[in-house]
Amino acid sequence: MSRRILIINGPNLNLLGTREPHIYGSTTLDDVIALAKSQAKGLDAEIEAFQSNHEGAIVDRLHAARGVVDVVVINPGAYTHTSVAIRDALLGVEIPFVEMHISNVHAREEFRKKSYLSDKAEAVICGLGTFGYTAAVEFAAKHVKLKSKKAHL
Ligand code: DQA
Repeated sequence: MSRRILIINGPNLNLLGTREPHIYGSTTLDDVIALAKSQAKGLDAEIEAFQSNHEGAIVDRLHAARGVVDVVVINPGAYTHTSVAIRDALLGVEIPFVEMHISNVHAREEFRKKSYLSDKAEAVICGLGTFGYTAAVEFAAKHVKLKSKKAHL
């Protein structure tokens, strides 16, 4: 039974590869998702990917994932530090999630140290660069304890 993993990327992560490359590197989001999809084949997992610059669109995507997705890997971008709505959506749909950041948010501005998600996450990854997505996918596929049965099974 393959696990369905939804990778969500928040605002500005569509610019990955060209955005502040000294912080976020030169790998594009398309590269990240292509790598995750090929990685998933060896993990008996399936990857879906969603990116949005809009908070409500991320909330809507999480609602649609209920009963369908097993684990969410989320890099909420700046919404990490502001969004009660995304926190509530993750808790509301009862899908375990891994919080992931490319940069080490603790070594940057003070406001990046606050996350609205970390205390509810199965794991928090930061500072590994885009390799963090690879680590998160492997962890999501192998180690996250699932909460609910998928509706389509
Ligand atoms: C980020 C860190 C956030 O503080 C920032 O707003 C981002 C990206 C990261 O992946 O390191 O957009 O989540």
